[in-house]
Amino acid sequence: MEYRHTPVMLDEAIEFLHPKPGGNFVDCTLGGGGYTEAILNKIGRTGKIIAFDADPLAIANAQKKFKNKNNVIIIHDNFSNFHKNISQLYPSAPNLLFDGIVFDLGLSSAQLEDRHRGFSFQFDAPLDMVFGEGTNRNRTVAIVNSWSEDEIARAIKDYGEERYARLIARQIVKIRKEKDVTTTGDLLSIISAAVPASYRNNKRLHFATRTFQALRIATNDEMENLKHVLPQALNLLKPGGRLIVVSYHSLEDRIVKIFFKTESQDCICPPQSPTCRCHHRAGLKIITKKPLLPSEEEVSVNPRARSAKLRVAEKIQIK
Ligand SMILES: C[S@@+](CC[C@H](N)C(=O)[O-])C[C@H]1O[C@@H](n2cnc3c(N)ncnc32)[C@H](O)[C@@H]1O
Repeated sequence: MEYRHTPVMLDEAIEFLHPKPGGNFVDCTLGGGGYTEAILNKIGRTGKIIAFDADPLAIANAQKKFKNKNNVIIIHDNFSNFHKNISQLYPSAPNLLFDGIVFDLGLSSAQLEDRHRGFSFQFDAPLDMVFGEGTNRNRTVAIVNSWSEDEIARAIKDYGEERYARLIARQIVKIRKEKDVTTTGDLLSIISAAVPASYRNNKRLHFATRTFQALRIATNDEMENLKHVLPQALNLLKPGGRLIVVSYHSLEDRIVKIFFKTESQDCICPPQSPTCRCHHRAGLKIITKKPLLPSEEEVSVNPRARSAKLRVAEKIQIK
């Protein structure tokens, strides 16, 4: 199957990343390889790019796409293991640092449109929203069938910003008493029965969009992984190197914003503290005071871009 994905805010990301011939870069979210390819075109044969993805199909596609490029190193792992992978790849270069690191978060169109996986309510498939492979395989089904009503409601509200989160969680708990919820079709009919008719008939946004998004985020611990990886990315950047994050969810963007803000300050003691006790030193300079949004033109040809926000920071020499 062809792996389809149109990269979002690619021109803007490349302009800020400014890859030069011979540079070393990391793409933490390889997907369809659009970002990796654009960076590769700028760094030439003397540069190097390391690209991560947790998804086996993204990896298989990239292995084909970059098969003759020995300066593209593809790593099939969660980006939360960023530092560990770099140390294993270059055990004799423990101080290896990069000119730029990029994250284009979330999921790709190929994942969403894969009718054998459970990311979309458009197809009836096993309810499996895991990006990667392995032990987590039944995570979505486990969440839906074993979390308490409160926990499910909170996840749907926080990660989906779904106003009917409580009603949907209640309906899940009611139905699962009769039969486990195991397919996207099961979940779709639960949501449909839980929400008011006016919401169900809303033409602008499908009534199941927010719940599916929320369960995907919970399944893959997306917020936790992002919190975990940002400090690793900062440590692995050269002074002058740039960190770029494209996010699609307000909570993700908040995590990035708070991280950039904290790491751009010398002292992070509480305001009431008379003297500095934290001894924290700024390691980042914020380049985009406000997040950059996609152009109207991009959104009109690629609606997936509509919620994108791009933030950039630059590593500074810690004093
Ligand atoms: C929006 S797509 C990236 C698209 C890419 N920039 C391109 O040009 O095609 C996001 C990708 O990140 C991957 N991903 C999301 N979270 C991940 C994580 N924690 N670790 C590794 N890969 C992750 C997804 O599997 C997906 O392939």
